[in-house]
Amino acid sequence: MNPDKSDLRPWVVVNMAMSADGKIATAGREVTTFGSPRDLKALYSLRATADAVLCGARTIEETGATLGNGGDAFRRRRIRAGLSEMPLRVIVSGKASLDPSAAIWKAKGSPIVVLISSEAPAGARKRLETLADAVWVSPSKGVDLEAAFAWIRGKWGVRRLVCEGGGSLNAAMFRSGLVDELRVTLCPRVFGGNASPTIADGTAGHLEDAFPLGRPELRIHGEEIYATWKAVRSESITSKSGKTRSRKPNSQPNPLTRDASINRGLRAGS
Ligand SMILES: NC(=O)c1ccc[n+]([C@@H]2O[C@H](COP(=O)([O-])OP(=O)(O)OC[C@H]3O[C@@H](n4cnc5c(N)ncnc54)[C@H](OP(=O)(O)O)[C@@H]3O)[C@@H](O)[C@H]2O)c1
Repeated sequence: MNPDKSDLRPWVVVNMAMSADGKIATAGREVTTFGSPRDLKALYSLRATADAVLCGARTIEETGATLGNGGDAFRRRRIRAGLSEMPLRVIVSGKASLDPSAAIWKAKGSPIVVLISSEAPAGARKRLETLADAVWVSPSKGVDLEAAFAWIRGKWGVRRLVCEGGGSLNAAMFRSGLVDELRVTLCPRVFGGNASPTIADGTAGHLEDAFPLGRPELRIHGEEIYATWKAVRSESITSKSGKTRSRKPNSQPNPLTRDASINRGLRAGS
């Protein structure tokens, strides 16, 4: 981690639904919802453990997600856990291209924060500033997620954050070593298509560059497999060639006090 930056950041959980052949939507993006009702409940249960939910701009637009709390039962759960009634909603949109008519703008209840690049066109930035509760401008080219997470922690008090995709945002987070936990619901469908999005739509050129995960916890419910992995700490990541990865573990503990025995992927409009 860059020593200039605070190493205080939230505990970050990536939560996704995936087809049996590794896709998170169909190639044409027609199908974005394919988990069971249990899976949806698990998504809301997981959100009910988090201060904030994070998504990329295309996920917000294409799924109609509003990133709410899932209704009254989950709202009560949040309150019992000492959280706000609804999670803070965080969207990454480097070019500030996020659609001003997206459903999320009409769903009230908690602040919406957008993370953009300093190179975003001024007009698009202004437009988002009129819609969002806060627009954070990255100090460097692109969106520096590490700096953004430190800001989210410091400014908004976010100790636990759930990221619900999509593949481009997840890839950037894995690349930056910012993921502490990955939860995947493996669903009984085969989508096919080499253009279908996946959990992390980036590349690891070498095995050493692949983001390392530990031993999974697995549960089977109905026809779905629920898997949870924790990120492997850097000291245990040494490849055959002797190369050691530099990923620094989160200096903050997971604030979750009780096991949210759950999981799930994003549902349209959720
Ligand atoms: N199955 C599931 O659980 C699940 C969950 C979520 C999404 N999905 C699917 O995934 C698809 C969307 O994924 P996607 O990869 O196309 O889009 P995405 O990751 O949701 O959003 C991509 C956009 O977010 C911004 N962004 C992401 N990472 C950034 C970074 N590091 N720096 C700057 N900006 C960044 C950019 O916005 P700008 O263009 O403004 O720069 C980029 O164009 C949809 O089909 C959706 O249905 C499935």
